Amino acid sequence: MMTVKSLARTALAFTAELENSALIDNFGNDLMSALAIRPRCLSPKYFYDETGSALFDRICELKEYYPTRTEISLLTKHARDIAKQIGRRAEIVEFGAGSMQKIRILLDAIRAPARYLPVDISGAHLAASARALQRIYPKLPVMPVVADYTGALSLPDMAVNAARRIGFFPGSTIGNLSPLEALAFLKKAAKVLQGGALLIGVDLVKDPSLLHAAYNDSKGVTASFNLNLLVRANRELCANFDIEQFYHSAFYNAPAQRIEMHLMSRCAQQVRVGDQYFVFTEGETIHTENSYKFTIAGLQALAKKAGFQPATVWTDDDNRFSLHWLEAPAL
Ligand code: AVJ
Repeated sequence: MMTVKSLARTALAFTAELENSALIDNFGNDLMSALAIRPRCLSPKYFYDETGSALFDRICELKEYYPTRTEISLLTKHARDIAKQIGRRAEIVEFGAGSMQKIRILLDAIRAPARYLPVDISGAHLAASARALQRIYPKLPVMPVVADYTGALSLPDMAVNAARRIGFFPGSTIGNLSPLEALAFLKKAAKVLQGGALLIGVDLVKDPSLLHAAYNDSKGVTASFNLNLLVRANRELCANFDIEQFYHSAFYNAPAQRIEMHLMSRCAQQVRVGDQYFVFTEGETIHTENSYKFTIAGLQALAKKAGFQPATVWTDDDNRFSLHWLEAPAL
C-alpha cells in the first residue's frame, strides 16, 4: 500500500536522523495493516497518546501493578551500590526515558555524571521532561535524543569528559519486545555501551494469579488503557469503533512466558477505518501487547548471547522484579 505517508518515509529514509525519529506517525498504516492480517496484532507503542500516557501513569500507582513500586524501591535501596558500579564521570543513556522519574534516584547517588542522554520516540514528551529535569539538575548536561531505540540506535559521540557510557532501561520495557527483537536490541545496546554497562529492570516469572491481577486491575484502568487505542483510532483516523462492543482481555500465556493483552469483539460487527471496512466475528481479537516475563537465568543467557557479561542482580524479597548489571566489554 503506497500511501502519501509511506512515500514520505521512503523519501526520507536516507536521513538517518529522520528515519530514526517519530516525526512520521504510522498509526494509520500500521492499524490498517494489522486489521488486514490474521491474527490481528498491533505494536503497543500506539497506546501512548496523551490519554494513554496518563492512563499508564495511573496503572503504575495501582496496588495490583507491583512492577513500578518494586523497581523504585530496589533502585532506592541499592542506589549507593549501583552508583559505585557506575563510577565517576559516567554518561547515562536512558532508553525510553518517559517522565524521567526513576533516573533521579540514580542522579542523586552517582558522582559527577558527565551527561544524561534520554532517548524516546515521543519528541514533545521528551523535551518537556528534559526541561523539567534540567531545572532540578542545573549543572548536568542533558541532551534529549528523539529516536526509536528498537531502530537504528545511533547516538551522538560520547561527551569528551565522560569516562564511559552506562545504559539505563527500566520498567521491564524489554518485555514488550519479542525474544528476537530483545536480542537485537541488546546487541545494539552492547555496541553503543562498549566499555560501559547496562542497568536493566526486568519483571520476573511468578504465580500467574499475581500476573493476572496486575493486568486486570479492579478499577479497570488497564482496560481503559487498552480500549483507549480504539478511542484514539476514532479520533485520529476517522474510524468508527463502537467502544462498548469490544472488551479488554489479558491473560498469562505460560508456554510463551508472557502476558497477552487483546481487544475482543463482543459480537459480529463491521468497523470502518478511514475508507476501509473490517469485519469482526464474535470473539475475534486485536492482539495489542505482549509483556514477556523472565527468569534471572533466562535474562542472563539472553544478555550473554547479545555480548554482555552479566554481573550483579538485585531482587526484592518476594522475587517479583529484578535489576541487572550487565557489563559491556570493550571490543
Ligand atoms: C511499560 C511495557 C512495561 O508490560 O507491564 C502495563 C505496559 N501494559 N499494563 C507492562 C503495561 C499493561 C508495561 N510496560
